[in-house]
Amino acid sequence: SSPGSESSESNAIPEFLAFTVATNETDAYKQLRSSAELNFIKLQTLGMGRRWTGGDVLYGPGGGLKVNLLKDALESYKHMPDLIILFVDGYDTIMLSSVDNIISKFKEFDARIVFTAEPTIWPDPKLAKDYPETDSHYKYLNSGGYIGYANDLYTLLSAVSIKDSDDDQLMFTKLFLDEAIRSKHKIKLDYKAEIFQALSFAEDDVEVRWNDETGAFLYNKRHSTAPLIVQGNGKSKHLLNTLGNYLPNKWTPQAGCLTCAENKIDLSSLKPKNYPRVLLGVFIDKPTPFIEEFLAKVTALDYPPKKVSLFLYNNVSYHEEIVKSFIEKSDYLHIKTINPEDDIPYEDALSAAVEYCLQKSCDYYFMIQSEAHLDNADTLKLLIEQNKTIIAPMLVRPFKMWSNFWGAVSPAGFYARSFDYLDIIGDHRKGLWNTPYVSTAILINATLFQTKALRPIYKYQGLDPDMSFCAYYRDMYTFMYVDNQVIYGHLVSKDFFDTARTNPDFYEMRENKYDWDKRYLHEEYYENLKLGAATHQPCPDVYWFPIGSPRFCKELIEIVEAYGQWSDGSNNDSRLETGYEAVPTRDIHMNQVGLHGQWLEFLRVYVKPLQEKVFIGYHHDYPRSLMNFVVRYKPGEQPSLRPHHDSSTYTINIALNEAHKDFEGGGCHFLRYKCSVTDTRLGWMLMHPGRLTHYHEGLEVTEGTRYIMISFVDP
Ligand code: UDX
Repeated sequence: SSPGSESSESNAIPEFLAFTVATNETDAYKQLRSSAELNFIKLQTLGMGRRWTGGDVLYGPGGGLKVNLLKDALESYKHMPDLIILFVDGYDTIMLSSVDNIISKFKEFDARIVFTAEPTIWPDPKLAKDYPETDSHYKYLNSGGYIGYANDLYTLLSAVSIKDSDDDQLMFTKLFLDEAIRSKHKIKLDYKAEIFQALSFAEDDVEVRWNDETGAFLYNKRHSTAPLIVQGNGKSKHLLNTLGNYLPNKWTPQAGCLTCAENKIDLSSLKPKNYPRVLLGVFIDKPTPFIEEFLAKVTALDYPPKKVSLFLYNNVSYHEEIVKSFIEKSDYLHIKTINPEDDIPYEDALSAAVEYCLQKSCDYYFMIQSEAHLDNADTLKLLIEQNKTIIAPMLVRPFKMWSNFWGAVSPAGFYARSFDYLDIIGDHRKGLWNTPYVSTAILINATLFQTKALRPIYKYQGLDPDMSFCAYYRDMYTFMYVDNQVIYGHLVSKDFFDTARTNPDFYEMRENKYDWDKRYLHEEYYENLKLGAATHQPCPDVYWFPIGSPRFCKELIEIVEAYGQWSDGSNNDSRLETGYEAVPTRDIHMNQVGLHGQWLEFLRVYVKPLQEKVFIGYHHDYPRSLMNFVVRYKPGEQPSLRPHHDSSTYTINIALNEAHKDFEGGGCHFLRYKCSVTDTRLGWMLMHPGRLTHYHEGLEVTEGTRYIMISFVDP
């Protein structure tokens, strides 16, 4: 076994000891510990449980406390010239290799003490001129990681006295810059990151690589080295945590995540009444499309309702009715709602939900915002089973690169793309990812709230509530994971949702295609496209396809009827460039109800593939159409249409309501073929040539009102 390893406990004088400082068991500290364990390094932690008096190291100088703690710890080893001491920072270090490798690398330095080297100088730039010449890019001393013989190190640590809140790095820098001390203790800097890699301002120098022997390892491209210890000093903590998803050997391209199955909870062995208590926080802060489906998916979550307390915040009057009916159907243990009339700001509601969670002694707090569609009914159970303090199911906007997490964060605290972001959202890399920002759906283990300082903060550093939440936990060294081991659901976009419209969801075809499809496409639409699918041809070269759902038909009628300005059926039509319509109908054009652009996209995405199946060889990348309109036929207004040709290459005609239910009569008669299509089917589309051959008429509606949607494609 290796020196200093767990199994080499004996009375013999050790050859190697490793120390760190950590005053709290933060996730960052646990990451260090587990990396040490994976490498069989026995790490001694100094300062655990005591108050941190080392200054605000995140935002300024400090860290002297670390020196004082280590000096005390080395007191009994101070005369030992052969004992090797390693020190690493507790909150931003990952051990990448074994004690043997660390010792042998250290010995190659022919030094008594080796410090980490980094490319920028901190905290006193004035000292830069005093540094020894080197051609290395990593010129300056960093005190987050160092290694040396006990006697020399002890002498150095006690050379000057330092206050807890003074800067340890400044102290070591001054000692190093003193040539006499430097040569007496043979102090060197690790210029090529052969042992220590400090990441700050060296982010682009490193990457994760894999080999057969060690699996994942860190590679320094600048120096062609494989550092043994990596430190996320300063703002590079986020990169450290990203690297920590892979290192030491936690994820490989072949095997995927090697540690994701560890420390899990198994809910399946519990009776429903023993399930953990969950506070479900549902937040509707802004008008959101497909809210009906969103709430239906919340209801569908597979979890005993009597173990769930609901906190529902709705800030949108437009959604009130649907929220009300959701609440009426709910059967949770407790229900608390905040409605638009309560006039409570979003961030206050977020805090109130946490309070409510505490009040109801919840075990978990599951926060869901209205864009989070949890298509997987097991989401809540699966997330609990991952047993993380903060975890989000990965949700992505379909066909987009927008998700509910950030892979990286910019120095200013905003979104940045990590090297693996696209692989993660594309599901090419699956696992549990420690990330600097999660949102939209987040499960928090409520034991976190036991420590007051670890309760969520929604107003922090002037950021918006969601960013505050994450920025605060980043500063508390608390990890936020995103899980993409299974598919949990997706995000809708609320960016262009306009509730001033009638049926605004209908307008979301381009922005939220995935959800739009599900709600508005005929359930048999995709059958049309299958190889060898039967085509219905009720008359020669008249094809018939299911395309719109009943809801599509109903909402489109509602949209045009709410608009209400039907044309008068005369030949004069000011909507047309010519001002003249030879075969007028009572109709409303799509551009009158703001749907023209969407309709062209509808023609391209859904109609064109059908056209190409039946009129083979005819192809336009973008079908054109100026005339897209809903026609209304009814007795007493205009019940029928005289025979005519359409000014189109082909025409589509979608039945928006039902024969024998909504109207009697109606249909389309093709005169050359002496063939009629009557009893048209709801949401089915007729497609036929327009300008030639298919001379046709609209048959008389004798009762009720018939609506059809018409497009003259490629006029
Ligand atoms: C940098 C330098 O690398 C470090 O040597 C110097 O002491 C401070 O500036 P940085 O990455 O900015 O470090 O600080 P951070 O890692 O956040 O804190 C330094 C270390 O102090 C932690 O890693 C941890 O070992 C200890 N610490 C800090 C605690 O134990 N408790 C605290 O509350 C804060």
